Amino acid sequence: MSAMLIRNARVLTMLALGETRPPPGGRRGGSLGELGVIPAADVLLEFGKVSGVWARNGAGNAAITNIPSDVREIHAHGRVLMPGFVDCHTHACWAGSRIDEWERKLAGATYQEIMASGGGIMSTVRAVRDASETDLFDDLAYRVERMLELGTTTVEVKSGYGLTLEHELKMLRVIQRLDADMIVTVASTALLGHAVEGDAGAFVNETLRRTLPGVSAENPGVTVDAFCEKGAWGIADCVRLFEAARAMGHPIRVHADQFTSMGMVERAIELGARSVDHLEASTSETLAALARSETFGVGLPVCGFHLDGRYARLGELAAMGGKVCIATNSNPGSAPCPSMAFAIALAVRHCGLAPAQAIVAATVNPATLLGLHDRGYIAPGARADLLLLRHTDERALAYEVGDNPVDEVIVGGEIVV
Ligand code: NIG
Repeated sequence: MSAMLIRNARVLTMLALGETRPPPGGRRGGSLGELGVIPAADVLLEFGKVSGVWARNGAGNAAITNIPSDVREIHAHGRVLMPGFVDCHTHACWAGSRIDEWERKLAGATYQEIMASGGGIMSTVRAVRDASETDLFDDLAYRVERMLELGTTTVEVKSGYGLTLEHELKMLRVIQRLDADMIVTVASTALLGHAVEGDAGAFVNETLRRTLPGVSAENPGVTVDAFCEKGAWGIADCVRLFEAARAMGHPIRVHADQFTSMGMVERAIELGARSVDHLEASTSETLAALARSETFGVGLPVCGFHLDGRYARLGELAAMGGKVCIATNSNPGSAPCPSMAFAIALAVRHCGLAPAQAIVAATVNPATLLGLHDRGYIAPGARADLLLLRHTDERALAYEVGDNPVDEVIVGGEIVV
């Protein structure tokens, strides 16, 4: 592995003056928009990590020391160098197609009506159960490769289209195999409460009695998730699942307030959830409670774009001091989208975030949420998962729509795209 020197970049270190690491709990409130910009700097990458960052002086020179003789030089010519995107909420492991359902939606059916008629999540569940592990793996690998080309260097992928122990384990094995096989970091989440099949009480009991212990045995410490919503998992059932999961040592996250404000956010905070995701229907009181807590609020603005024009008020959450992330939510039903840049563009237009806040919410904060404290910032010691943008102004990430903002993607110190 050769060393790489990136010359004359506009560097988003994501660190405030005096910080050598991001705050361990994530950025919030007034510091949510902290990009730590060095307008012109040279950055050295060695052994998969950032090993030096030197600001250029007024004459355009940097006092660089200890450059290895075999270093490969890249000239940024003032383009933005920033951490790779961390997409912290996706359902990118799926089979089948929901384009017919989408046409029904265009003709007037709602997401919930399609779900209530046996389509929606359950139609993808049927396709995933029918798919071989090889086909699931190939489809997921293709989608994650596309995400990488668009600048995502770390992605979280949930199970949740299996629902039974056998099929949830199949999905988790596929997701973890991709992490082992691909240069992108793929973090898995066990979404055990995504839907209910048949009698709700019996299904929840089976999930607690059999699926959770079985998943836990094969995936110790994996994050456990659920979809708290009318027609999906109720609040009391989510709490039962989360209390059992926590007792087995699993962190928890929850899909909450997507269509209905049900009180799950407040319960999730009490249970110490890492994040509450969606929040389109959250009241100001709920956002205030979230802002006072250590739980991240994850906005998924592609859902509003694709489904119904409703968006989480992330700017309000940030103004009250909350910890904010954004993600693509890539899935076949509510967000068929691989692009974090598109999520950023929507978050600034519809969720009330400033461009700088959206960039933090797409990099260092989701890295912290996923417990990956070695990335999402640029300083000596950080993992060298970086993007060299086409742009010399990072606000173009939020301003431009529909193009790929990335010139080079660097993973572990190597240019991979
Ligand atoms: O986060 N709402 C629940 N889960 C996904 C949608 C999954 C699907 O429709 O297949 C979401 O939007």
